[in-house]
Amino acid sequence: MRLIIHSDYEKASNWTAGYIAEKINGEKNRPYILGLPTGSSPLLVYREFIRMHKEGKLSFKNVRTFNMDEYIGLPADHPQSYQFFMKENLFNHIDIDPKHTRIPNGMAGDLEKECESYEEAIKTAGGIDLFLGGMGSDGHIAFNEPGSSLTSRTRIKTLTAETKTANARFFGGDPSKVPGTALTVGVGTVMDAKEVVIIVSGRSKARALRAVVEEGVNHMWTLSCLQMHRHAIIVCDEEATEELKVGTVKYFMDIEKMNIN
Ligand code: GLP
Repeated sequence: MRLIIHSDYEKASNWTAGYIAEKINGEKNRPYILGLPTGSSPLLVYREFIRMHKEGKLSFKNVRTFNMDEYIGLPADHPQSYQFFMKENLFNHIDIDPKHTRIPNGMAGDLEKECESYEEAIKTAGGIDLFLGGMGSDGHIAFNEPGSSLTSRTRIKTLTAETKTANARFFGGDPSKVPGTALTVGVGTVMDAKEVVIIVSGRSKARALRAVVEEGVNHMWTLSCLQMHRHAIIVCDEEATEELKVGTVKYFMDIEKMNIN
């Protein structure tokens, strides 16, 4: 696993956007399959994608996307649905074909069937080339809350009180307004991606980042699965490193000296 530490969130986001843009631009022979998150963590990456697109440096015509998760029971036009979020923050501002953007349907009549067909669609697309993600303050990836199976696939999950409290800021500050369940890709689904890039920012993530980077693989911090991935990168800002050992920070900064600028 690489840990790339930038001085601030904006620099971390710009680096991440540039890294992914290079991959997209480099794929000429087949569609590039990109996994995407919502939440505040990817916002500046999306802003940078839009900027690069507007400047003619990045096209999404050859890109197919699969989102990580979606609340159950929020219609696509609900401002807090992830469908709505993705259109507002990315899809409406780039040249991606809407038919090529897939998000789990939290309004499906048969949710289990929706999960199965989501996994099937990823497989049919040839698998995910790069999964971009964020991390919850309890170390979760997508909505794979503590205790999730590290081999899980797309399924229904119940959200923890910590996640509902963290996400209450989008629901007028009231955790009881946050839907209690969601559809989410599994840890196994993320692990199947050829590459995983996670963006982590701020002190509220520092405790989880320490567990994920310095402790062992553990279902209580599901992002720690990355320790078993062949091609995983965590890009973070300095604030997020505040619980890491000085030696850990020095170590990763030293090996990445040539890569960040
Ligand atoms: C949510 C999402 C995750 C996201 C996490 C962190 O629960 N399901 O995909 O990574 O929260 O959110 P944020 O980036 O807003 O801190």
